[in-house]
Amino acid sequence: ADLNLEAVHDEMVTLAYEAGRMILAANPASIDTGTKLNSVDIVTEVDQAVEKMVSTRLSAAFPSVAFMGEETYKPGTRLGPEPTFVVDPIDGTTNFVHSVPNACTSLGLAIDRSPVVGVIYNPWQDLLFTAIKGRGAFMTRIRGTAPRKLPLAETPRPLGGLGTALLGVEWGSGRDGPNFDLKMDVFQKLARSKETGGAMVHSLRSMGSAALNIAAVAAGQLDAFWEGGCWAWDVCAGWCILNEAGGRMVSGNPGGWDPALDGRVYLAVRAAPKGQEELVHEIWDVIGDRKM
Ligand code: IPD
Repeated sequence: ADLNLEAVHDEMVTLAYEAGRMILAANPASIDTGTKLNSVDIVTEVDQAVEKMVSTRLSAAFPSVAFMGEETYKPGTRLGPEPTFVVDPIDGTTNFVHSVPNACTSLGLAIDRSPVVGVIYNPWQDLLFTAIKGRGAFMTRIRGTAPRKLPLAETPRPLGGLGTALLGVEWGSGRDGPNFDLKMDVFQKLARSKETGGAMVHSLRSMGSAALNIAAVAAGQLDAFWEGGCWAWDVCAGWCILNEAGGRMVSGNPGGWDPALDGRVYLAVRAAPKGQEELVHEIWDVIGDRKM
């Protein structure tokens, strides 16, 4: 039987609020924290408990749908074409551990490796982003109040190029090697004055959650977001929301318009009547011929 995307969306919203309750109930000062690939790739017992709750309830409600979650991911597993829930229980774990109130639960559904439902919830701000493919994207600030359609501006401003852009970037957990060097070089070139060869963007923001960065681009608060080092669960929900908000996800490596959901490098650009493609090319020029 065909999967009812609206039923998936509604269940995800319920689970996102439930996850939010669990996250807010935890005291980061006293929770068990472990690390994964290195000492800055952090996981907590709350990440694991939220993923368990979400996977149990999604599997009970939609037993035919596969599940991929950050905390139970087996290295080497590829996202397949079959309907798959793609879940990050806490995107922004580092913020969570340091009590910075900017992290979220990110719940996506992919079919044919393409995002079709996305729900992102930041419990500290009671801020919910949702989308179903073909039906628009919405933001609800304070549960129970009316959702607002995304982008928030009815008529978004044209994009004026890098010199007037506010960009989201993230440090990620990789801290050495060519990818790290490329990232640092790109940050520097983006920020540096025009006189000294840079693009002099208005500023760079590292808010600590890939999903919330993408949601901010969908809302029109950031002009673009670039990151190398993402996983499917960081981007699946946000990508659906971005698409439905008239934004565009392209490859964060120069030249590619259609990144795969199991890629690692992404560039999200906000909706705009003009300048979307030009901004992408300007960022690609900064990256140059190097690939992550
Ligand atoms: C991380 C955050 C971070 C981004 C990393 C992600 P996590 O997710 O989104 O902002 O830079 O690439 O892996 O580990 O907090 O779920």
